[in-house]
Amino acid sequence: MNYIDWLDRKDLEYRDGNLYFANLNTLEIAKKFGTPIYVINEQKIRERYRELKDTLNLGYKRNKIYYAIKSNTNLSILKILVSEGSSLDCSSTGEIYTCLKSGVSPDRIIYTGNMFTNNDFKFAIDNNVLTNLDSYSQLIRLAKIYEKKGKDKSIISFRFNPEFGAGHHPHTITAGKEIKFGILENQMIKAYTKAKELGFKKFGIHQHIGSGIIDTKNYENPTEKFLTIIEKLSSQLGIQFEFVDFGGGLGIPYHPEQDPIDLNIYSEIVFTRFKEIVEKGEIGEPFLFIEPGRYISAESSIILTQINTIKDNGYKLFAGLDAGFNTLIRPTLYGSYHHIIVCNQRNKEKILKYDIVGPICESGDILGKERDLPELNEGDYLAILDAGAYGFTMSSSYNSRPRPAELLINDGNIFKIRNEETFDDLIRNQIVPDYLK
Ligand SMILES: Cc1ncc(COP(=O)(O)O)c(C=O)c1O
Repeated sequence: MNYIDWLDRKDLEYRDGNLYFANLNTLEIAKKFGTPIYVINEQKIRERYRELKDTLNLGYKRNKIYYAIKSNTNLSILKILVSEGSSLDCSSTGEIYTCLKSGVSPDRIIYTGNMFTNNDFKFAIDNNVLTNLDSYSQLIRLAKIYEKKGKDKSIISFRFNPEFGAGHHPHTITAGKEIKFGILENQMIKAYTKAKELGFKKFGIHQHIGSGIIDTKNYENPTEKFLTIIEKLSSQLGIQFEFVDFGGGLGIPYHPEQDPIDLNIYSEIVFTRFKEIVEKGEIGEPFLFIEPGRYISAESSIILTQINTIKDNGYKLFAGLDAGFNTLIRPTLYGSYHHIIVCNQRNKEKILKYDIVGPICESGDILGKERDLPELNEGDYLAILDAGAYGFTMSSSYNSRPRPAELLINDGNIFKIRNEETFDDLIRNQIVPDYLK
């Protein structure tokens, strides 16, 4: 993909030397609303959702997308996706709470947590949310809670760990014997047998192998293993599945030299064999679920940030920003690449190499290492791309820096969808004991 097309994919283009995002001048946005600030493009979220939905519809008609809200939990984003027909995937009771606040009905939520407490289960049961278990012992505890509450044990699902994982960083690989997630092959029969004994009547199954996968080959082995265990559960225990959830993990091209994931190949690897198995008539007529987060939300957003300091220390050139790893932790946490571009291309001819750094009191606060950029000046504005997934949700107020605001662009209009935090927010929940007053 050439660079202009790569930018265009993200609704970015230069007009007369100024960067436009979703048809709006980024300099004007930065000056009007202040920086740092997250700017989200509604149309891109809808577009990415629809791309996936079209792929699914071609691959296997009975399907549902559960947007993984951990990537971006803003209520407006949830409302946009719910209006598209999306269901929602949660990893905690706080996320379930957020989903319910967005107005979605509980039957469109799946709770794929891990290390569940009994209170987590109680919350899910009280709110009629389907839970996806990731250990045998959790099944016993969950069943007891159902019984205590006198509620019907209708549907249960387990997360399978296929031992083949993948991801953009070791910390985002979620399958393998050493990994905490899911149930290994040797305990799956035991788990479903017990679930039947305990009175669960309907069944689903789930796997999620990791996050940030751009090479579709990574889905081959885990999918094969997943389908084998599904067939085994049906043939040995007579289980008919209500749904089969293939998880999320679809990556996006963060780097201009990367191509987008090929959804047709993904569909062929994951859905074609699944369809064949369903057509044999032995595993029921399950819905096919996927749980993408990043694919839907990442490219929808940029962070606008201002350069406050240009420092040439004799060895290196630093461009110091008002955004740091408190605003976007992925580069520091995972060594992730986020492309960074100037909002104004004033000094286009002279290209220099910069380390793009934030204001956090740690030398790891680097958003971009050795980036070639047109000569920068203090006061210039930059855009950090692809910040819509795991940007705000992983942000912090470290160094007592209030989190920034979020803006939503819809059809050329700008809506503030989250206020910037204040200093008061930083200390709001603290309690000073009387003897210290
Ligand atoms: C269970 C589960 N589903 C879905 C996702 C979403 O992953 P991604 O944003 O890579 O699509 C995650 C991410 O960690 C996950 O753990």
